Amino acid sequence: MGDLGGGATAVTIRVHRFTARPERAGRRSSSPFASKASRASSSPFASRRSSSPFGDSPSAPKPRRRTRGKRWTQDYTIAVHGGETVLDCLLSIKRTLDPTLAFRYSCGHGICGSDAVAINGTPTLLCTAKVTQYAKPERSAHGAASSADERFRRTGSPSDGDADTDTNINTDNASNETAGDTSATPQAAPHTNHPSHLGVIELAPLPGFPVLRDLIADIDQMMAQIKRLAPYLKADGKLARTADGKIDMFEYLQSPEQLKRYELLSNCISCGVCEGSCPVYAGGEAFVGPAALIAQARFINDSRDQAADERLKAIATQDGITACQSVRACSRQCPRGIDVGEEMWQLTTKVNGD
Ligand code: SF4
Ligand code: FES
Repeated sequence: MGDLGGGATAVTIRVHRFTARPERAGRRSSSPFASKASRASSSPFASRRSSSPFGDSPSAPKPRRRTRGKRWTQDYTIAVHGGETVLDCLLSIKRTLDPTLAFRYSCGHGICGSDAVAINGTPTLLCTAKVTQYAKPERSAHGAASSADERFRRTGSPSDGDADTDTNINTDNASNETAGDTSATPQAAPHTNHPSHLGVIELAPLPGFPVLRDLIADIDQMMAQIKRLAPYLKADGKLARTADGKIDMFEYLQSPEQLKRYELLSNCISCGVCEGSCPVYAGGEAFVGPAALIAQARFINDSRDQAADERLKAIATQDGITACQSVRACSRQCPRGIDVGEEMWQLTTKVNGD
């Protein structure tokens, strides 16, 4: 690595990549058990689903199907300037080195919640993660990753049961061979011992979610869970009227104290970071997940909402708040500063009538 110039330093972005195998025409399912599972009477999970208030909807969660494909790890060593984020690095890689690298983002400012991934094993947003905060010397980066592995599930890794996955992982820093059928541009061996090299940042898809490609997790299930619990105001519809019957007031008035009870919760951006941090949530099959429950807490705490009892009943289920084990890992990285674990506990006490 020569002179980087302009006060630049270098960082190696290590990406856990995935490309799905194309579906074969006419193939009904990747699992020989799927047809049995779809028969309600033959599956022990079917009765659990149907006893749930979430289970009878046409948009009820579908059994999670694991996608087969190629998995490998790829290193990209690039120049970075002070203050750049990990998202900046990925954009630079995509524009200049490897257009096949797939990740999701939109606002770039911590507002949309679309770019949650695991950085060095910790679920967080790409656009708010500073390179200087996450770059670790090679040895530490591996250490962080392995200790994180104990805390967080690695999405779609062979260890999470995807025995059919065709795995081809290259963690050798000196070799950047691209596996699979991608046309990624191989990089020169990273000079990780160069004095201006900040270290390694390891990126993987959000834990607990199926992977669509590279760093893009499938969040459909999470969005369906949030939607199923009616994340909108259920007010009494009674607006003040004038003597001649016209609507006199277009707002449901609230005191500042009443607003304060749910204002922070209304900042949730459904990023899924809390779900990716939760050791119970795994695609939402056994647990509706903290993001959907935060959406419920937001309306339960809203003085204008008239459906608190109905909402509490809807989450007092085996796969609702009852599944929460109060681990509170969900609180660690919420980009909106919500103490998710505490909100889960508050919901538990409300459901129990404490
Ligand atoms: S509670 Fe926080 S971490 Fe969870 S989805 Fe909302 S913003 Fe993301
Ligand atoms: S890109 Fe919108 S939150 Fe990061």
